[in-house]
Amino acid sequence: MAFDIDMIKKVYANMTERLDAARSIVGKPLTLSEKILYSHLWDGKPTKAFSRGKDYVDFAPDRVACQDATAQMALLQFMQAGKPKVAVPTTVHCDHLIQAKSGAEIDLKHANNTSSEVFNFLESVSNKYGIGFWKPGAGIIHQVVLENYAFPGGMMIGTDSHTVNAGGLGMVAIGVGGADAVDVMAGMAWELKFPKLIGVRLTGKLSGWTAPKDVILKVAEILTVKGGTGAIVEYFGPGALSMSCTGKGTICNMGAEIGATTSTFGYDDSMERYLRATDREDVADEANKIKDYLTADAEVYANPEQYFDQVIDINLSELGPLLNGPFTPDLSTAVGSDMTDKAKSNDWPIKVEWGLIGSCTNSSYEDLSRASSIAQQALDKGLKTKAEFGINPGSEQVRYTAERDGILDVFEKLDAKIFTNACGPCIGQWARYSDPKNAPKNSIVHSFNRNFAKRADGNPNTHAFVASPEITAAIAIAGRLDFNPMKDTLINENGEEVMLDEPTGWELPPKGFDVKENGYLEPVADGSGVEISVNPTSERLQLLTPFTPIGESITGAKLLIKAFGKCTTDHISMAGPWLRFRGHLDNIANNTLIGAVNAFNKKTNFVKNQLTGEYGGVPDTQREYKKNGIWSVVVGDHNYGEGSSREHAAMQPRHLGVAAVIVKSFARIHETNLKKQGMLGLTFANEADYDLIQEDDTFNFLDLNEFAPEKQLNVEVVHADGSKDVIALNHTYNDAQIEWYKEGSALNLIKKQNA
Ligand code: F3S
Repeated sequence: MAFDIDMIKKVYANMTERLDAARSIVGKPLTLSEKILYSHLWDGKPTKAFSRGKDYVDFAPDRVACQDATAQMALLQFMQAGKPKVAVPTTVHCDHLIQAKSGAEIDLKHANNTSSEVFNFLESVSNKYGIGFWKPGAGIIHQVVLENYAFPGGMMIGTDSHTVNAGGLGMVAIGVGGADAVDVMAGMAWELKFPKLIGVRLTGKLSGWTAPKDVILKVAEILTVKGGTGAIVEYFGPGALSMSCTGKGTICNMGAEIGATTSTFGYDDSMERYLRATDREDVADEANKIKDYLTADAEVYANPEQYFDQVIDINLSELGPLLNGPFTPDLSTAVGSDMTDKAKSNDWPIKVEWGLIGSCTNSSYEDLSRASSIAQQALDKGLKTKAEFGINPGSEQVRYTAERDGILDVFEKLDAKIFTNACGPCIGQWARYSDPKNAPKNSIVHSFNRNFAKRADGNPNTHAFVASPEITAAIAIAGRLDFNPMKDTLINENGEEVMLDEPTGWELPPKGFDVKENGYLEPVADGSGVEISVNPTSERLQLLTPFTPIGESITGAKLLIKAFGKCTTDHISMAGPWLRFRGHLDNIANNTLIGAVNAFNKKTNFVKNQLTGEYGGVPDTQREYKKNGIWSVVVGDHNYGEGSSREHAAMQPRHLGVAAVIVKSFARIHETNLKKQGMLGLTFANEADYDLIQEDDTFNFLDLNEFAPEKQLNVEVVHADGSKDVIALNHTYNDAQIEWYKEGSALNLIKKQNA
């Protein structure tokens, strides 16, 4: 079952039925985002208008997608829910656990050996509960979803923050933690704060070296990594119509890097072309019947300032290629501007050692074909590439077609490594060094989305820059960060000066897509007889035991760590080598917060144990507190938990005995994940109170017994000298979420309701 056309017909019937009601209730024309949201209400026909950024709303998503790293914990949780089958179409995609090292064939074999226990577990759970299973090597979740499942006007959730990629095909697709996915898989409503809306009006037309990637790199520069928080970004205008569907996917994909809830585009010809090229004529036909419902009302795009909370204008004709980084995706430098000076003054290595093309952001047929047009010129013009090339095709369908059409051959002639159709270096699954911690300072360029320290290769000294696939290819050939392909010449092997011509490529394969074995396994119709076994001595998988409620009285809690500056989910629960423990809560808890910087000594994984006065690693210190029956508190800065949707970043501290996380502000998904696991996720009412927290502090919560929506909580902070501060804390818990806290977790509540 590649997709369920009857389900899509039902979604479209709902849209036509519900949107007239929504329009009259809202009292104005609707954006596309509102159309999708109002047609997916859990309660059916809209009966009230929701306040953006304020009201929590129950939705009924059409699909769920999980990747292998997060699926383990999601499915372990789903198994606890007591359901015989998933309630909505769900797929699992094996893409994160495959290391890039020697090339696709060897690496895939190696992954199948080293992670067979996990893959077998995911396959058998999928088979049992009616979940579609995409085997290792089938492709990266978001490319596979775009090729097979995404459809205009649909709503989906996925246990990966780049689920948003499906906005390229006109969906509202949102990255969530596994606990949210479990709700939907169990047939329950999925709750989201009704998002604010940011409109991005695209005028002009992309040309030359500029690609869709540059649009989102520009948006990231404008909005920064926090600017999209709590909002759906809706792109529109003539510039949007001129872009390919996969290009739109790239733009939506990196909406995760600006913290946006999701991003989307209205249905257009490029989407229809993509649907037909990917064997979904019937979806295109259905979408064509209700075209007007699959984009905003005309008045909205004519006067966007009246309908969006914020409007950004980008003229594609004036946009040039960008290089964003290092260490953060919103730090832009225009290609051909001041990179030489910037690199010098910031001490960024100007020499580029690798150019990596792939990831869910940029691994489509179009991406590979445009990048290969640059690579071909290196061959034709006698250039020797200065950096090494690594390629991860997005899916087996893309890989097979690109191989058939000679695209991969071009890269191979340049000695590129063609890695598995998987995440690979994008998630630290890259065996670049034997000892990454002591590896040398260097720069790399890639077409991925994230470039936090250590993300690609575990080396804190790797300066990763994000660019389009074509700019990545050009910079890899030149081997310099400050190479400007629009102006600079290169010296070829004959000593001649040559220039690279502008990239060319195909939006879709001229001879159509093809694939021999796409890697999909359909679940059996009746999975009741399928056995799932988890070895109790396994170090990779561990069945879950329910969390006990933290309760209404937290006194004597110790400060575990006061995190300084950026604290992403990678800092809280690192990826890379730790991915192997994603299905084993106790083992993966040994990486809890080891990447967070201690505000008192600016070191990572080095905190004071208040019981002994000695310094040690965060997990060890926390286990000491737990052994002694002492709760602890984590304090953090702004946008705490930005990055991925992994609920491990909440489950691990919960498992180890952290009761509360108190920060200046949260990233949305992480805040929800803390709530789902029955913990306290709180924010300083007065940000400056962050400065009051000292290393030896003890926390007494004063009024948890009065925990209620929109009511501040107060905590007494006792310092080492006996002095005290009472700090007011804000929270966003509604009644239902307070129930999760009281029951110990959202899952405990589901189980209770199913009993
Ligand atoms: Fe995979 Fe990187 Fe995307 S980890 S899902 S390719 S962001």
